[in-house]
Amino acid sequence: MKNADDTAGETSQLRRQAEERLSKAEAEMSRPLTGEEAQRLYHELQVHQIELEMQNAELRQSRNEVEEALEKYTGLYDFAPVGYFTLTRDTGIVAVNLTGAGLLGSGRSRLIGRPFELFVAEESRASFTAFLGKVFAGQIKQTCEVALLKEGNNRLFVQIEALSDTPGNECRAAVIDITERRRAEDALAEKRRELEELNRTLKSRIVQAVVELREKDQMLILQDRRAVMGEMINNIAHQWRQPLNSLGLYIQELPLDISSGTFSAETAEIYVDKCMQLITHMSQTIDDFRSFFRSDKKIVPFGVAQVIRQTISMVEKSYLDQRIRISFATEGDPRVTGFPNEYAQVLLNILMNARDELVGRDVDDALISIHAAENGGKSIVTIADNAGGIAPEILDRLFDPYFTTKEPDKGTGVGLFMSQTIIEKNMGGRLTVRNTGNGAEFRIEV
Ligand SMILES: Nc1ncnc2c1ncn2[C@@H]1O[C@H](COP(=O)(O)OP(=O)(O)OP(=O)(O)O)[C@@H](O)[C@H]1O
Ligand SMILES: [Mg+2]
Repeated sequence: MKNADDTAGETSQLRRQAEERLSKAEAEMSRPLTGEEAQRLYHELQVHQIELEMQNAELRQSRNEVEEALEKYTGLYDFAPVGYFTLTRDTGIVAVNLTGAGLLGSGRSRLIGRPFELFVAEESRASFTAFLGKVFAGQIKQTCEVALLKEGNNRLFVQIEALSDTPGNECRAAVIDITERRRAEDALAEKRRELEELNRTLKSRIVQAVVELREKDQMLILQDRRAVMGEMINNIAHQWRQPLNSLGLYIQELPLDISSGTFSAETAEIYVDKCMQLITHMSQTIDDFRSFFRSDKKIVPFGVAQVIRQTISMVEKSYLDQRIRISFATEGDPRVTGFPNEYAQVLLNILMNARDELVGRDVDDALISIHAAENGGKSIVTIADNAGGIAPEILDRLFDPYFTTKEPDKGTGVGLFMSQTIIEKNMGGRLTVRNTGNGAEFRIEV
């Protein structure tokens, strides 16, 4: 801004010029002025002087405005959030705002005249040189991203936008710090890579997990099968008791026949026949049990009724000893494609549970009713007992692994869990349960 001395100096200079002009004008006049003329001239000069003073005030006002604007724009330039550089091809940095100097970590005076490349990190230098070449080659705005090395060796990433002037000597460059954005982008890219890697391996990991689960299921099925085996030995004992008794009676009768003289070749043949029938029956029983314990290796089509009958035949005698009847009715011959022995294992688990409840609750006229039918291409088998049913609060936990209401030596709680696994995972069916009113009813749908 101008001070008072400046203004006074200007006024006196203007006055000198005006006086010079006046004396020149007087010299040019051939005769001295009349009083009237001098009066008019004086008036003119006064008006002129006022005009000049007004012009002078206007000029001063304009100059103040220009200076204010300059101050304002210098502030805007220096404290802009973006670094501004003026660069030349040969002499490097010509001008820089405060933000720009801050980006390079240096004082402004130390930067002027130094090549900008000095601050460009080694790996970005080639691309920066190419960028600058393009900027000076045409008057089109160019953009690039480079790494800078601040004084003190701190690294930062910047985006530079530059445009050269028309002769192509000088260019103006806006430099924006994008370090944070770059870090976020890098982190994002890293995350994306990790995700892609995860995605790539996801399928194989799922397959692997499924295989492992299936192996675990298979192991549990075998464990459950072994538990059922103990039960079966009991059943074999029951099934053998009667033929063994008969066999014993025949053998005891032999010496009686011989001593009474009724023993002949004919009666010997009859004895041998009866005994062989019993022995064949017993051996058949063993074969049935052995085949039941063989693991199913492959999926086969089988008749549900036949598997039910076989399973019933294995437990029937021991159940009758405990005064439990098993009834079975079938509509048609529903067929299933799957694992027949695993299916039988499920039936056995359900039958054993029913037996436990019927015995445990001491039910009179204990009955297990099995019914098989076909519906919409599916086999539907229901196994209902009259033991009183399942408490509603445990109904939806029944198929959970290790859920049991029995004493630790009586049950482990895997029977129904395994049964559901076999039916739903191995054979794609459904195993459900409901209360009928006087007992529980399990429903196998495959
Ligand atoms: N027919 C049924 N009536 C009433 N409750 C039943 C019946 N069947 C099963 N339950 C209940 O379901 C529970 C779980 O049966 P699950 O066969 O899974 O295990 P568990 O019989 O207790 O033991 P495990 O079979 O492993 O020896 C049983 O403890 C019993 O409380
Ligand atoms: Mg059980």
